[in-house]
Parts: sequence; structure tokens; C-alpha cells
Amino acid sequence: MVPMPFAELHLHLEGTLEPETILRLAERNRIDLPYADVDALSAQYDFADLQSFLNLYYANMATLQTAADFAEMTDAYLARAARAGVRHAEVFLDPQAHLSRGIALEEVMDGVSTALESSLATHGVSSGLIIAMLRDHSAQSAMNVLDAVVALGKPILGIGLDSAEVGHPPSKFIDVFARARAEGLHLVAHAGEEGPPAYIWEALDLLGVERVDHGIRCLEDDALVERLVTEQTPLTVCPLSNVRLRVVDDIADHPLPAMLQRGLNVSVNSDDPAYFGGYLDDNVTAVRDALGLDEAALTTLARNSVTASFADDTRKVELLAEIASG
Ligand code: HPA
Ligand code: ZN
Repeated sequence: MVPMPFAELHLHLEGTLEPETILRLAERNRIDLPYADVDALSAQYDFADLQSFLNLYYANMATLQTAADFAEMTDAYLARAARAGVRHAEVFLDPQAHLSRGIALEEVMDGVSTALESSLATHGVSSGLIIAMLRDHSAQSAMNVLDAVVALGKPILGIGLDSAEVGHPPSKFIDVFARARAEGLHLVAHAGEEGPPAYIWEALDLLGVERVDHGIRCLEDDALVERLVTEQTPLTVCPLSNVRLRVVDDIADHPLPAMLQRGLNVSVNSDDPAYFGGYLDDNVTAVRDALGLDEAALTTLARNSVTASFADDTRKVELLAEIASG
């Protein structure tokens, strides 16, 4: 079966490092990891919450050293995403997590950009890069990264906000997002994953984001749902991630059908596929099978993913036509 075309809008490149790749990079770069083999590493993939995942996610990044490593990681994701039906990908990168362990920004950006530049020709996937700011670091650190990335001149789509949510509200980053807006960049932020609906309000009102990443806790606030429906603000929902990080108890309890029912502009995404049990196709299959989403609902999710993307209009029209032709 040919998979339905989708845009993937919520994907952390560093979250695509498969255990096998982590061990191979560790050996190549002579990095000591406390795991003897893939089984020992994979046994760690049992998370109590977002922070317990982030601890492993950041630790495993130690294996990424050279531009070639970053290019390889990005290219491997694009190849796998293409097989999943992804035709357009807007991917997050966490530069602060690499700068803080002594890797030069040029090394990181050169590798990722090289792979993204050839994504359409090589994999049939158009792509763009979103620089994600670590919200548990200072606003000054985010501003420094923004300045450095802009000065580097590699093409980027916009900025986002990720990492440990609770205790780090969007309001902390007002100046950073204002500066990014002045640079003409797109603005998105993780909000309402573990954090309260108030963080979604802040992301909208104080940061001016165009999309909310996750956002599922909006359902706790009727006025917020009404606002998101009226403005058709895209929410990039990540079902398998929500289960693995215990944001929802079970895939069968996921609120995606309720969100669709209420008219929210939701799409399905894989977040950190190497850690959460699957790529975009696995997420789509999971929601179809566990939540009984029919063909019409899946088509709505595919259409939403394209219209919510920052792809140019020509590409959007092309992808929407592909979706319509089934
Ligand atoms: N949430 C917040 N920050 C992240 C995530 C996530 O799921 N993945 C990588 N950084
Ligand atoms: Zn995420």
C-alpha cells in the first residue's frame, strides 16, 4: 500500500537517533557510553515523564561530534520518513544542547543543512529547519543562539521552544520571539504537553506563535478551545509520544478524536520516533487502529498537516492534490 502523503511538522532530529546508530557513533567517535549493547540501551527506554526522557535524549547526543554525524542522522530520518509517506518535513534542532558540550554551531548547522538541502532531490521530501530553544536554559542563551544562527546565514524556517516545560513558561522568551519575528522567521512553541493551558495562552498572546506543538491540554479550558478553533491555530499532536511520556494513559484514551470532533486543527506527528516507538506511519496506524479513525478523518489529518506547514503555496497545492487523489 502506498502511504497517504503527509507533512511532518513536529520532529526533533536528535530524537531520530536509533539505538544502533548511537552505539555506532559512540564507537566511531570514541565516546564512552554506559551500555554494552543495543539491548542494554533499549532497556532504558521506559519513561516516567518528559524529564526522564530528556535525560536520556541529551545524554545520547554526546555521540554526535562532526558535521558528517549530523548529516547522517538527518539523512537517515528523511529516508525513513519518505517510506512513512512524509512528503514535507519541518524539523527541530536543539543547537544549545550541542554548543553546551563544546560542538561548534558551524559543525552542527553544516551537517544538518547539507542533508536538508538535498532532501527533495534525494528523498522526494521538501524540508525546512526550525531552531528550537531549550526553555530550561536562560532567555539570554536563546538570544545568543538566535543571533549566532542568523549570522551564520544558513536557511532556517523559524524558531520553536522545547525541553522541560513546567516552570519555564513562554513569557520567559518574549524578547527572543520578538527578535525572531523581526528577522521574518516563523514562530512555534511546545505548550500544553505537560504544562497547563495557561502556557498555551501565553504562547499565543505573548509570543505570537503560528502553531502550537502538542497543545493537548487545551481541552481543559473551553475558552481556549474556542479561541483555537476560531483561529484554526494548528496543533501538532504526537500520539505515541504522549503515551510513552505518560501524558495520556493509553493510546485508546488519546484525545485526538475529541480534538477533531471539536474542530481543532490537529495533525499527527512522531516527535522523537527513535524513542517513542515509531515514525509517522506508526503513529497514523496507531490512531487508526486504537481510536477507530476512518479514511475521512485520516484525510483531514493529512490535509491539516499540509495547510499548517510553512511550505510555499505551489508545494502545498501539489501535496493537497496528491491527498485528494487518494
Ligand atoms: N517535549 C519537549 N521537548 C522535547 C521533546 C518533547 O517531546 N522532545 C525533544 N525535546
Ligand atoms: Zn516535541
